Amino acid sequence: MKVQFELNGRLVSATHLPGTTLMEFLRGEEFYSVKHGCDHGECGACTVLMDSRSVNACLILMHTVNGRKIETLESFSTHERLHPLQENFLKEGAAQCGFCTPGMILSLEALDRESGEIDEVQVRDALNGNLCRCTGYVKPVKAALSTLKASRKTGNHEDEGGDS
Ligand code: FES
Ligand code: FES
Repeated sequence: MKVQFELNGRLVSATHLPGTTLMEFLRGEEFYSVKHGCDHGECGACTVLMDSRSVNACLILMHTVNGRKIETLESFSTHERLHPLQENFLKEGAAQCGFCTPGMILSLEALDRESGEIDEVQVRDALNGNLCRCTGYVKPVKAALSTLKASRKTGNHEDEGGDS
């Protein structure tokens, strides 16, 4: 089976076997920020953005990505520059083993794109599907709030294409 979709800003054509998930495809293409966790939509380790919404890539069959826009964490930073959420996760010590961190960053990015004002309840809700055994969420929530509130103060939120 063949699909065409946008992956991290590039148009790609992919041939895949029926039943292949987006997680399997992306890891096969060496997008290792997409972690293979539970494989059942329960841990959030495989989170990617599909049309700017966070989804569990282990639950997405490849034939459904035709014409969609997929983003993985690989598109968020360069060797010279981290995404502001990554910078603040580092600053706050919010990543310990780091297995869950890519998924958390993408869930928070989806929240950033879809929301106007941000509060702690929204941040905790956005992280609801991203299981972390290490941090207890206090530091990720702190890092997220400082990043998302700062982007709203400086106006970067609108510049980045936010809805509000
Ligand atoms: S590996 Fe996809 S939700 Fe756990
Ligand atoms: S930092 Fe280890 S699971 Fe989240």
